Amino acid sequence: MVRIGNVTIEGDVALSPMAGISDSPYRQITKRFGSAFSYTEFVSTEQLKIGNAKSLDMFRFVEMERPIVFQIFGSDLDTVIQASEIAAERKPDIIDLNMGCSVSKVSHNGSGAGLLKNVRLAGKMIEGIRNRSGLPVTAKIRLGWDSSNLNYLETLNVLENSGVSAISVHGRTKAMAYTGLADWNAIGEIKSRANVPIYGNGDVQTYAEALEKKKMYGVDLVLIGRKAIGNPWVFGNIPKQLVLWNEIKSVILEHLDLMLDFYPSNDDYALVLFRKHFIKYIENTGFPEDTKRKLLSITSVDAFKDTLESVKMDSKFLETSEINNEMMNCETFVSLA
Ligand SMILES: Cc1cc2nc3c(=O)[nH]c(=O)nc-3n(C[C@H](O)[C@H](O)[C@H](O)COP(=O)(O)O)c2cc1C
Repeated sequence: MVRIGNVTIEGDVALSPMAGISDSPYRQITKRFGSAFSYTEFVSTEQLKIGNAKSLDMFRFVEMERPIVFQIFGSDLDTVIQASEIAAERKPDIIDLNMGCSVSKVSHNGSGAGLLKNVRLAGKMIEGIRNRSGLPVTAKIRLGWDSSNLNYLETLNVLENSGVSAISVHGRTKAMAYTGLADWNAIGEIKSRANVPIYGNGDVQTYAEALEKKKMYGVDLVLIGRKAIGNPWVFGNIPKQLVLWNEIKSVILEHLDLMLDFYPSNDDYALVLFRKHFIKYIENTGFPEDTKRKLLSITSVDAFKDTLESVKMDSKFLETSEINNEMMNCETFVSLA
């Protein structure tokens, strides 16, 4: 159990924030499967300030997702503070400041991982968000800008002095983006020096591994990103490899229905958005290639469901080869609106 201000978080593992993935429908699914809490995708404070409807819409959620954390990013102190007030009106439990996004458009403009180069400013942001929103504030960081600037202990110190309530650490530098391996020893070092809860993040593949990392490095919670796409089973004891196809299919349909409800439209908008999840759900299941191709071009929901129902597969999910997510990163789906 983790206490963040007056918010209690139960559980050991949670879905890491992912632009284009961790929207309300998928948060509902992962919460039901055991994710300890929910993070929104990162939302631009510039866009919130000018009332961009698409950005505001990224803060829509349903009660069962709680505790819900709204993640924001920005480089201008006043804008960030003002946007936190707009965010707070929608009643999240916690506001999180993104200090980890490595995408150039974000980090080279001083926001996301760009804040690692100016941790004093980040500290002022944390303090300002807290005062203005009245909510607990957390931050998601990387280890530093690059290997010559591993300033994570300084970042910890500044953020703690600014009243941060917890910090999640992706164990890479901004320069690494998603290459190499996350440095869990550094995450453990941060935890050993911290007075606030620390969430560890980076390269965790399974629930069992998350529990192992938690124990080994002492972190309060583990966040899973890429391995959770199309795989909500990663938040529970039974790995996807052991799940029957019929169950996978029923989760696919449940997720699709949630998306249809959440993104109502007269066209195939929700179905098109759902495709990236669908590809991941069926990865390594032995799903027939020709049907996959057909499903990815279908624009009618009824036809999609009928075609999916027509697939008969061995009930056992046999292939255990590694899911290759290495090519997927924050840039894959990021929309900065
Ligand atoms: C598609 C994608 C989108 C992401 N978007 C965000 C984001 O909006 N906010 C954030 O803090 N991190 C974002 N990340 C980073 C993840 O939260 C996580 O820190 C990173 O993927 C490492 O964890 P993993 O190895 O479990 O994937 C994103 C990652 C991916 C792959």
